[in-house]
Amino acid sequence: MADLASMDKIVALCKRRGFIFASSEIYGGIGSTYDYGHYGVLFKQNVKNEWWRAMLSERDDIVALDSAILQHPRTWEASGHLAGFTDPMVDCRTCGQRFRADHLRDLECPRKPSKHPGEGPDCDLTEARDFNLMFETTMGPVKDSGATVYLRPETAQGIFVNFKNVLQFSRKKPPFGIAQIGKSFRNEITPGNFVFRTREFEQMEMEFFVPPGEAPQWYEHWKQARMEWYVELGLRADHLRLREHDADELSHYSSATADVEYLFPIGWSELEGVANRGDFDLKQHAEYSGEKLEYFDPQTKQRYVPHVIEPAAGADRATLAFLVDAYDEENVPGEAGTGDTPSEAQGGEQRTVLKLHPRLAPVKVAVLPLVRKDGQPEIAREIVAALRGRMQTEYDEGGSIGKRYRRQDEIGTPFCVTVDHQTLEDRSVTVRERDSLHQERVAIDELGDVLGARLAAPWRSPKLAVAP
Ligand code: GAP
Repeated sequence: MADLASMDKIVALCKRRGFIFASSEIYGGIGSTYDYGHYGVLFKQNVKNEWWRAMLSERDDIVALDSAILQHPRTWEASGHLAGFTDPMVDCRTCGQRFRADHLRDLECPRKPSKHPGEGPDCDLTEARDFNLMFETTMGPVKDSGATVYLRPETAQGIFVNFKNVLQFSRKKPPFGIAQIGKSFRNEITPGNFVFRTREFEQMEMEFFVPPGEAPQWYEHWKQARMEWYVELGLRADHLRLREHDADELSHYSSATADVEYLFPIGWSELEGVANRGDFDLKQHAEYSGEKLEYFDPQTKQRYVPHVIEPAAGADRATLAFLVDAYDEENVPGEAGTGDTPSEAQGGEQRTVLKLHPRLAPVKVAVLPLVRKDGQPEIAREIVAALRGRMQTEYDEGGSIGKRYRRQDEIGTPFCVTVDHQTLEDRSVTVRERDSLHQERVAIDELGDVLGARLAAPWRSPKLAVAP
């Protein structure tokens, strides 16, 4: 696909513009963990806000939860993670590297000439053995075996162990859901592809508890709803697909699972999983804890263990998908306003631009005085102060106006407001639109309402108009 951004370009942009960078970089980084800078934080927060909006604000049958990362170790016995949350691993006796045995075709041996592990003349792989992905630590001052606890490998179990609590206070009855966003940790054997697979990441998971007979229809509902969420936020539908798992791919707890897959630069890969978990989790935790985890329906006088439909997404992976989908490089014709006078057109030039849905863009509007004199910075700061409480606003007076537009394009700012000579005469400014480069004059007094309405308007990716 011609328009696909390469992972290298995405990584470079993220570092250049301070979205995401390697963690502990001054010490050489550490095993595929990443830090989010200012724009990265704002951007990922917008992704999470949109998820909360879809789960909470737009429905009244889901409640929120924020459970602890450290949970009673019995949680992981009951869930099956202690015994079965493993990946097959092989070591190479020659280079000393470890590889996921089921990913060898996607991996590279570190020795030259570059080949898949096991295919080089000197490769000497061990037999595959199971490696548990949970991070272990100890709780309290004594490091004996009874003090072993685990960093949660998924947020889901925190929801199941709180089922009874939530049922009591929320006054909900099935079908209802519990949603949570939080960090999860997996000691992945081969993390990689930037924030696609890391050892510390954020999940956005929702467990939807339903009467057993309704599970199939809710499974269909959530597959559809989750696909629509990505499309509504601008991911191109032809870069998204639903892939139903074959029977031999299903997790131990699942009777049906489908992956929402996105066409990442590494190829079609999982963005989110939607699973029918049946009554596995509640039954397991009931057995291990001795608590009844059931619902008593006062109308039918029936007691049952609800079944669970789970849409499980990754906040970092979704952020990466939105970045990839928005990334564009294009030749733009001369833009009005990039010279000293606002109407002067410059010759065409190349720009890198993030065509992000305005709701996801880290900064909504940048306010730019054309020159750093003649009272323009003062008016620009006055505008910033007026807009600030309504939308994420940034002031920038450094460098030529053309360079400042390019900087805002690269962080995906949908609107630039330019203060120029005319502003001093009639208190109007130029509003420049990121995707179309269209410019128009707007009165300062109307600016907040005009921008607010545009940010709230439906949006579709301008890349959709481009033939593949
Ligand atoms: N509770 C079910 C569950 O955790 P999963 O498919 O293992 O299912 C759900 O994880 C989502 O979490 C994935 O679709 C992905 O978006 C994200 N995810 C999982 N492992 C990840 C990792 N190592 N790095 C980044 N994101 C990850």
